[in-house]
Amino acid sequence: MLNAERLDYQKNEGLELNNLIAHPFEQFKHWFAFAVHADAFHANVMALSTVHNNRPSSRIVLLKELDDSGFTFYTNYQSHKAQEIAENKYASLLFFWKEIERQIRIEGVLEKVSEESSNEYFKTRPRESQIGAWASPQSEDISRAELEQRVAALNEKYAGQEIPRPPHWGGYRLIADKFEFWQGRAGRLHDRFVYTPHNQNWEIRRIAP
Ligand SMILES: Cc1cc2nc3c(=O)[nH]c(=O)nc-3n(C[C@H](O)[C@H](O)[C@H](O)COP(=O)(O)O)c2cc1C
Repeated sequence: MLNAERLDYQKNEGLELNNLIAHPFEQFKHWFAFAVHADAFHANVMALSTVHNNRPSSRIVLLKELDDSGFTFYTNYQSHKAQEIAENKYASLLFFWKEIERQIRIEGVLEKVSEESSNEYFKTRPRESQIGAWASPQSEDISRAELEQRVAALNEKYAGQEIPRPPHWGGYRLIADKFEFWQGRAGRLHDRFVYTPHNQNWEIRRIAP
């Protein structure tokens, strides 16, 4: 029964403005390191929401790079999400780390990463993921048999060779202009802090749970 799962969030010490790092990327990295420690496999799982004709849609993608310029994930540039991003570059990312009772919401605009960055990352992927990137016309109708045939044909085509990055596959970086750090607290009195840009810096505000 979903209803029976009434959690009282008690793992965390209180979060105060003066415990927060002034730059939200640093604050993110700080919490991310905690999340990795708590659950190394899933910490980089994030929900990506995009909008098409005023209608939002969400899906999970994996955070693959993080630097001061933004949050990078890799995908198919012809997928539904890519079509939505081409039409509307505004997007949001959502992380939820249940083990540490924290949520981070990030909003901003998406841009494609450079072809060099996509090439470099593609090279690090396992061979079957590289074949998958060629084989799968992501978001299009397909039968299982056709997908498997495509994989078999590509395995034959590239046998003994390095697999090049498909031109329709690469990264997007979210350039963030709003962050919210949420920490579960006892009695539903959760801590929430929002970072927004202010005079070349970041303003931090506490908001109600
Ligand atoms: C744990 C998990 C990780 C995923 N990581 C990615 C990813 O990094 N990139 C990606 O394109 N899809 C990833 N997916 C699949 C997406 O959720 C989604 O099905 C796919 O990108 C197609 O979305 P679209 O049709 O809205 O474009 C992942 C799914 C799960 C459940």
